[in-house]
Amino acid sequence: MEIIIQPTAEEMSRVAARVVAKTLYAKPNAVIGLATGSTPLGLYRELVRMHKEEGLDFSQVTTFNLDEYVGLRQKHPQSYHYFMHENLFKHINIPQQNIYIPSGTTDNYEAFCQWYERRIVECGGIDLQILGIGSDGHIAFNEPTSSLGSRTRIKTLARQTIQDNARFFDKIEDVPVYAITMGVGTIMEARKVILLANGGNKAAAVAAAIEGPVTSMITASALQLHPNTLFIVDQEAAGDLKMRDYYDWIQEKMPDAP
Ligand code: GLP
Repeated sequence: MEIIIQPTAEEMSRVAARVVAKTLYAKPNAVIGLATGSTPLGLYRELVRMHKEEGLDFSQVTTFNLDEYVGLRQKHPQSYHYFMHENLFKHINIPQQNIYIPSGTTDNYEAFCQWYERRIVECGGIDLQILGIGSDGHIAFNEPTSSLGSRTRIKTLARQTIQDNARFFDKIEDVPVYAITMGVGTIMEARKVILLANGGNKAAAVAAAIEGPVTSMITASALQLHPNTLFIVDQEAAGDLKMRDYYDWIQEKMPDAP
């Protein structure tokens, strides 16, 4: 596990964009796992800038999104389909057929989930997975007590998550109760994982994920068992880390910081 602490969310996003760009320079047809939420917005803005100004090429890239709300049509402004098209896909040169996002409106979720897992494998597996973290320590929509071996499936959202995400909806009753999400086991098969977090409301979850026990109560803690995970967090999200000095020292001594 590597931990990079940046002064601001903007710098967090820039470091993350450099990691994505490095992956694409090394492997132009990389498979990238994508996250939604407010945290990766700065990263997507920076990737769009790199595409427009520096020619960062997405023409051979394939993407798989982590999750989607059940019951929201693709055109619903709070669907993750809409979010991804508005904030990233419509600004870069990724072919439409290379974009995979779980369906929130299929009539056979079980078959869809199996197909989604199969497509990831058929496309060669995820080279780089981008993650945010919920205030309760979840990754994707793997709420506390999700199996650390779980695969893509339907999850019931925790009350905390519904409250956290209500800010994007007119009223809390509009937040869907179910989501379709990659499992922790699915995420753990990615070759490299970067988890982004900013803001003080993520400090406890970040500390629990990095320094607490591996537990299904904090599904991000499963990343302690992943051989190639990078946490990129801002000052505030790093606020509860006990080993902070050590992480800074490692970065200071690292010859090739990203
Ligand atoms: C949702 C998403 C997660 C995301 C989390 C945090 O629950 N399913 O993938 O990490 O929200 O969102 P935000 O970045 O807005 O804090």
